[in-house]
Amino acid sequence: MLWPVSCFQVDSPKDKDTMRTAAIHMENIAPPENEWYLIRNSSIHGRGVYARKFIPKDTWIVEYVGEKVDKDESERRSNDLLDKAKTDGSAKVYMFILNDEWDIDGNVEWNSARLINHSCEPNVEAQTWDEKEVWIVALRDIEVGEELSFNYGFDLETWEEHPCLCGKPSCIGYIAADEYWPALRKKIASKKARETRKQKQLNAKSVPLCEVS
Ligand SMILES: C[S@@+](CC[C@H](N)C(=O)[O-])C[C@H]1O[C@@H](n2cnc3c(N)ncnc32)[C@H](O)[C@@H]1O
Ligand SMILES: [Zn+2]
Repeated sequence: MLWPVSCFQVDSPKDKDTMRTAAIHMENIAPPENEWYLIRNSSIHGRGVYARKFIPKDTWIVEYVGEKVDKDESERRSNDLLDKAKTDGSAKVYMFILNDEWDIDGNVEWNSARLINHSCEPNVEAQTWDEKEVWIVALRDIEVGEELSFNYGFDLETWEEHPCLCGKPSCIGYIAADEYWPALRKKIASKKARETRKQKQLNAKSVPLCEVS
């Protein structure tokens, strides 16, 4: 999987971002919708992105737009997000790899694709085009009204902090790239065993002692 960006036809990324910021602030518009999708509240989390009509497999649905940042800035912003996540539990994921030099920080109001939730059975994925743009592309035919979802590709570093609410039959229970699922299953089993042991100890402690007269 990829980490998602985008381009309007302007001279430099800086110009592009300035233009977008100005346009959004001036018009104060909501994240845009297009012919393929609309935005509404999601049963998974917050807002989500939904198919407005039937979307055939391989359709390039929406570009993952944002601010183009170099790797140093990207790392700095990602670390800030991680620090924030540690204090308030937030874990918004917006940084996509564009190429060896640049990433895209999609944490901007005009990036509708940032609202796509994670699923253990995703129906879209992010693809780069020519190392210049990142697009959300249909992995299969998607019916009208289906929520669009991709796999966030998390590693297992902070897995317990990201329970998954995708509700799919194959949901692994936590947000993680599927390559980590075998290891994750083992971690979940150990966690369960630990909790069962703890519960047994608590139950044993709370058994009242009977006095024999
Ligand atoms: C980039 S936002 C996605 C848009 C989000 N629904 C919103 O309204 O801002 C990512 C955050 O959405 C939540 N999220 C996305 N998919 C999820 C899932 N399958 N289960 C639980 N939370 C999810 C997590 O809090 C995650 O950090
Ligand atoms: Zn899931």
